[in-house]
Amino acid sequence: MNEPSVDRIHSALRIEGERFFIIDQTLLPFKVEFLEIKGSRDAAAAIQEMKVRGAPMIAVTAAQALYLEMKSAVENGTVKNTDDFLSKLKETADFLNSTRPTAVNLSNAMRQIVKDVELMARNGSGCEENDLLEKTKQASEQIKQSDIQTCRQIGELGASLIPHNARLLTHCNTGALATAGIGTAIGAFYTANNQGKDITVFAGETRPLLQGARLTAWELDSSGIRTVLFTDNMAAYIMKTEKIDLVMVGADRIAANGDTANKIGTLGLAILALHYNIPFYVCAPTTTLDAGTASGEDIIIENRHPDEVRYLRGNLITAQNIPVINPAFDVTPAGLITSIVLETGIYSRPYSFS
Ligand code: MRU
Repeated sequence: MNEPSVDRIHSALRIEGERFFIIDQTLLPFKVEFLEIKGSRDAAAAIQEMKVRGAPMIAVTAAQALYLEMKSAVENGTVKNTDDFLSKLKETADFLNSTRPTAVNLSNAMRQIVKDVELMARNGSGCEENDLLEKTKQASEQIKQSDIQTCRQIGELGASLIPHNARLLTHCNTGALATAGIGTAIGAFYTANNQGKDITVFAGETRPLLQGARLTAWELDSSGIRTVLFTDNMAAYIMKTEKIDLVMVGADRIAANGDTANKIGTLGLAILALHYNIPFYVCAPTTTLDAGTASGEDIIIENRHPDEVRYLRGNLITAQNIPVINPAFDVTPAGLITSIVLETGIYSRPYSFS
């Protein structure tokens, strides 16, 4: 297998012993600054302020924060026994889970850690808070490690859909800044590039917070991948004139029928891709699946602060009190998605995830 040259890829996280740092993505690409996450309050603020973002990376950050929060509670004596431990663990997991509602990886990760620890508490006779803490550490670490591994697998599978001399279009940021590994859709670009395929990536700027312009363009360009930036309202023109081979994006939640929530603007790209007969692929880990949600109709869309639209990088760009609508995601119906690439395989319509 061709390993993408990770040394040239910017990672969203840094680990020093048991200390956990995230790159502050609100400062990119102008400043590379790491921020220490010491517990759940730091993580919640970083997630809500989008200092850390991307569905898998949000889950990894919350998982590490959950462990660090429990570690402090055991060390400072606020948690003294198994019951204390379990109730603080659940309360902290619920708190972290409330920070961003649409990306399901977060709730899947919190549920998994609580489940693993509860199972140990139920089965282990005489197990104490220190054993449960060790279990929390292992379960959190597992979330991170499996994200790294699934990114590699998605990268391989996604790259198999990318031809030589490909012109690719993507949206938002789905790379090493959005995951603990090489990314999902962008992971496929890294892998294809590493396989010697000549690729050009057209990256949409992704208003209002410019993940495409600030993060994807920087991340890909630093990795030596030819990248062309366009503003979101140019998408139709780019598809019409630039001989785009395929569109590849990530996902924040995939319903059982394949309807997919992703960064606002994705739906428009999928409709355009159908019009121009361009394949439209979604790449995501299975932790982005929400089999309990039958269709996109039931996916909760996060609405964010109006000032994210009124201001551009701190500058007011409209009359101060203009009413604003700011949905962070939209839902692309399964019928517009050519294939969904998970680490377990490439799936085609009709989708049925259980
Ligand atoms: O609001 P963001 O920046 O967290 O949105 C990110 C996206 O929409 C990504 O496409 C998605 O999380 C997948 S990241 C591998």
